[in-house]
Amino acid sequence: MKNIVILISGGGSNMAAIVRAAGSGRWAERFGARIAAVISNQPTAGGLSLAATNGIATVAVDHKAFAVRDEFDAALAAAIDVHAPALVVLAGFMRILTPGFVAHFDGRLINIHPSLLPAFPGLRTHQRAIDAGCQVAGVTVHHVTTELDHGPILAQAAVPVLHGDTAATLAERVLAQEHRLYPLAIERWLEIEATASPESA
Ligand code: GAR
Repeated sequence: MKNIVILISGGGSNMAAIVRAAGSGRWAERFGARIAAVISNQPTAGGLSLAATNGIATVAVDHKAFAVRDEFDAALAAAIDVHAPALVVLAGFMRILTPGFVAHFDGRLINIHPSLLPAFPGLRTHQRAIDAGCQVAGVTVHHVTTELDHGPILAQAAVPVLHGDTAATLAERVLAQEHRLYPLAIERWLEIEATASPESA
């Protein structure tokens, strides 16, 4: 089995879209892949109960319980490693990861960011796009490197900025594209993996 572990910090709507796609796209039958666990740094994250309802193992690793970032990342990595994942998916996971953590999961750690990277890494992407007068915003799925919201791009979708858009209205349209794009990008990754090593599917 190719285990996929999803990391969230909040509502987990991208995680839910991926879980739905794994079912409707028959990832287990086609790729031998399954969502093995959903892990959050926020014990109260709404996405955790949603994942549990879908029969997925859930774990909370509360970052506030750790004095330093290295210790939190080590505990997080240990919780992920329990599932020996082929792919670790950051889906609204709002913690900066240490270089050691990124190196540990090198090549199997991906993220979604609500902008057309390399534009607008970091927070408040929608407001910053509106303030800059952008006519096009969007979303990027990318490999994670040690530099925040950088790394080789796997997939992008553009979303027009409409007259009168607020950060909230733009975010809503971008999020709809996130829910389409992230499952597609993961499925493409699984297809490539299956072609590279057909016997492990
Ligand atoms: C999504 O818009 C995601 O792109 C963003 O957080 C939101 C999480 O929503 N991630 C980042 O900004 C990471 N830099 P969700 O919990 O409903 O999936």
